[in-house]
Amino acid sequence: MADTRVSTNNLDSFWMPFTANRQFKQDPRMLVSAKGMYYKNAEGRQILDGTAGLWCVNAGHARPKIVEAIATQAGELDYAPAFQMGHPKAFELASRLTAMLPSPMDHVFFTNSGSESVETALKIALAYHRAKGNGSKFRLLGRERGYHGVNFGGISVGGIVSNRKMFGTLLTGVDHIRHTHDLERNAFTRGVPEHGEEFADDLEQVITLHDPSTIAALIVEPVAGSTGVLIPPKGYLEKLRAICDKHDILLIFDEVITGFGRLGTPFAVDYFGVMPDLITTAKGITSGTVPMGAVFLQKKIYDAFMNGPEHVIEFFHGYTYSGHPLACAAALATLDTYAEEGLLTKGAMDADEPGDGKGLGTYWQTALHSLRGMPHVIDIRNIGLVGAIELESIPGAPTKRAFNAFLKAYEKGVMIRTTGDIIALSPPLIVEDHHIDEIVATLAMVLKDLE
Ligand SMILES: Cc1ncc(COP(=O)(O)O)c(C=O)c1O
Repeated sequence: MADTRVSTNNLDSFWMPFTANRQFKQDPRMLVSAKGMYYKNAEGRQILDGTAGLWCVNAGHARPKIVEAIATQAGELDYAPAFQMGHPKAFELASRLTAMLPSPMDHVFFTNSGSESVETALKIALAYHRAKGNGSKFRLLGRERGYHGVNFGGISVGGIVSNRKMFGTLLTGVDHIRHTHDLERNAFTRGVPEHGEEFADDLEQVITLHDPSTIAALIVEPVAGSTGVLIPPKGYLEKLRAICDKHDILLIFDEVITGFGRLGTPFAVDYFGVMPDLITTAKGITSGTVPMGAVFLQKKIYDAFMNGPEHVIEFFHGYTYSGHPLACAAALATLDTYAEEGLLTKGAMDADEPGDGKGLGTYWQTALHSLRGMPHVIDIRNIGLVGAIELESIPGAPTKRAFNAFLKAYEKGVMIRTTGDIIALSPPLIVEDHHIDEIVATLAMVLKDLE
């Protein structure tokens, strides 16, 4: 007899990640297909994607070249062991990726997610210092309000209280510097804020406290995404770089969100002109189609491991699916799509007319800031094709106002994302001015009636 618990209408079994499960299951928001800039939901309504899925679908949905590459690859080579064996597309992809960055950043380690990229980068940093004879450098530094995925290393260096408090002692030997969000001085800044370079001095202070001889690496998101689009103040990242150099500390940029065109440049390193020692990526690498991540690292780091007998594994780390053939095929087709359509610079600032097919950053900025003065709005910020609208919290009920905005926007046909009481926006990079108009007009309606 069929098990009566098995039913497509039974929503109970699936414990949904980072979701208010009970709320969702009472009133499900079910997406059933997607094309270009739009999802379609189970009720047959079009939902404009204001968030590139989860900051990942940078090339837009169901792009033919990517779809075809995945389908062809599945029929040709579905899987190849990742350890002691290889397949050509992984090497081709690594070369293509490293060619996108200046020359010392010339090696790539493949993972399957942003969280895994972070764990990989942290482990490389620790093992690098040990390989160089500096095994006392065991401490890892992160920043308040940093998001580096959900594994133990990532939540330890991360700075989100709810992601940490339930999980015991986490990784030991970790410390944090302050975040840079400073509404008092920087509210309604367009682009990079003026004030706050001195937040980087925290790093000297933490280093002095622990002594540089104990510190392996600092990890930061160049622009913190998940905690609400926190844009680094002028001069801040440069200062972090200089302090890390001074004390032989590796600097890791977590570009899981900022990588692959989000800021109007291929990577945040291009936008800010600051080069870290390692870069973690995921999401946009395959435009969200097949799970994949990649850690970029400088030659000096790779070389530090390449010694000892040649038959011995140099780095005891990797995943069954590192460089999975489907992910590599998807990534190669994604890079082609980005290049053919100029998507990695689509969010650049541009004084030209809207709709001229060039950078949309200026249009995006002007449109978002037109919401200034709407009820509850205490800040609007933007960089590239990312933006945030910060709302005043309802006293005693933090997150509720923004969550209501999310529900109302979805009802009106636009998918936004909220974190705390901040609305975060990051549309696919194929976005056009009329989509931006639709997002902003919908938000204006939502904000007008928001409790
Ligand atoms: C900066 C950053 N690092 C890491 C992650 C984790 O990525 P994933 O969810 O693919 O594990 C995210 C996800 O949003 C992120 O924004």
